[in-house]
Amino acid sequence: MSDRIELKKAKKLKGRIIPPPDKSISHRAIMLAAIAKGKSIVKDFLTAEDPIGTMNAFRKLGIKIEEVRSQKSEVRSKNSELSTQNSKLVIHGKGIHGLKEPEDIIDCGNSGTTVRLLSGILAGNPFFSVLTGDNSLKQRPMARVINPLKEMGAEISARDSDKYLPIAIKGRKLKAIDYTMPVASAQVKSCLMLAGLYADGITTITEPQKSRDHTERMLKSMGADIETDGLKVRVKGLGGPGGKELNPVDITVPADFSSAAFFIVAALLVESSDVMIKNVGINPTRTGLLDVLRSMGAEIRLLNTRDVSGEPVADIHCKGASGLRAVNITQENIPALIDEFPILCIAAAKADGITTIRGAEELRVKESDRIKAMASGLRKMGAEVEEFRDGLSIKGNARLKGAVIESYGDHRIAMAFSIAALVAGGTTKINGISAVNISFPGFYKMLKGLTK
Ligand code: S3P
Repeated sequence: MSDRIELKKAKKLKGRIIPPPDKSISHRAIMLAAIAKGKSIVKDFLTAEDPIGTMNAFRKLGIKIEEVRSQKSEVRSKNSELSTQNSKLVIHGKGIHGLKEPEDIIDCGNSGTTVRLLSGILAGNPFFSVLTGDNSLKQRPMARVINPLKEMGAEISARDSDKYLPIAIKGRKLKAIDYTMPVASAQVKSCLMLAGLYADGITTITEPQKSRDHTERMLKSMGADIETDGLKVRVKGLGGPGGKELNPVDITVPADFSSAAFFIVAALLVESSDVMIKNVGINPTRTGLLDVLRSMGAEIRLLNTRDVSGEPVADIHCKGASGLRAVNITQENIPALIDEFPILCIAAAKADGITTIRGAEELRVKESDRIKAMASGLRKMGAEVEEFRDGLSIKGNARLKGAVIESYGDHRIAMAFSIAALVAGGTTKINGISAVNISFPGFYKMLKGLTK
């Protein structure tokens, strides 16, 4: 795939799609199945760069993982939905104490979830390991997991006074702690829950706001002693060798709401659109964007709501809507729409009035500085944007025009501006589109299928 694309205004988006499987759940399925005892089956695993990185990491840690890729490659399924290539995994878990020392450094690529969750597991395993990542991941903060892991007694150190990758870990028996997290982060919470499985006693983690709870759900279904109580999670250590083990799982991963979000907003913004987005995970810790779009006046229907492997799932129906209204987003809204910030900015540029998003400083330390990337790209397309330390404000009803946009190697920036291009005059050129392979290989084929 060439690393740039040229896109033009679309007349409508029409059709039925199944977005790729959930990235967060795919990562967790590998990690938890690897430390469970016995054979787990994961259907509809996301075959994208980030979770494939997690799979390779666990192979280096001695876990046998068999992968059966579906034959279809980003084509129409039997029911004529556009879908992406997924795979089925068979993971031969070796138990909580069954990982082996890796012979080499583990490269976590672009994936914050891989490195932060894996650190929690490795901190409790009695061997030496080193984790690194790509240039983006090397600039992202790691002290948020290193500091509490040290409090648990972990031997762990990292570059620049324990701030950045690479991280070196010499695992050992950990002690339970009572930790209050300064920022809402599912990666930090999950890291400490996983370390808590290797600790003596009960680890208690308190979040300032609720972040995604996929780890809690999956661990509970595997028989771990987990208690959630508002913003607190308590995890009981499994005990030393010969102690309790996690049960293997047989799960189906739902489609990723964060990937669906691009097409939800596209369908709303492009007049005459009618899109059915099927099998999407609607865990309430993830769907803040739906509430915000509804408060902007959008009509979005959830159909066929059901439970799939302990996660709520639905089909989402969206039609072109005129007259979205601006909205005021504050810190309380952020965790449940953390990954939808880029596409929300595009919706804001077309809404009536000035949208303000504050309390979003976490967006500066994602795969790119997403506040800066969205402000500069939107300005290039002709929108009026004011940037703050912790967010931005966007003047709506913008007459967007084609421009040359940088993805900064960030999958969600590339996809957000690809949707903006559908409502902009002229041609929008986006550089660095191979980044979409981090979470959504097949994005451009799906977009083409819906707009043709
Ligand atoms: C994720 C948590 C979030 C999110 C990321 C995936 C996870 O990060 O932005 O894309 O799978 O736990 P933070 O925990 O840093 O907020």
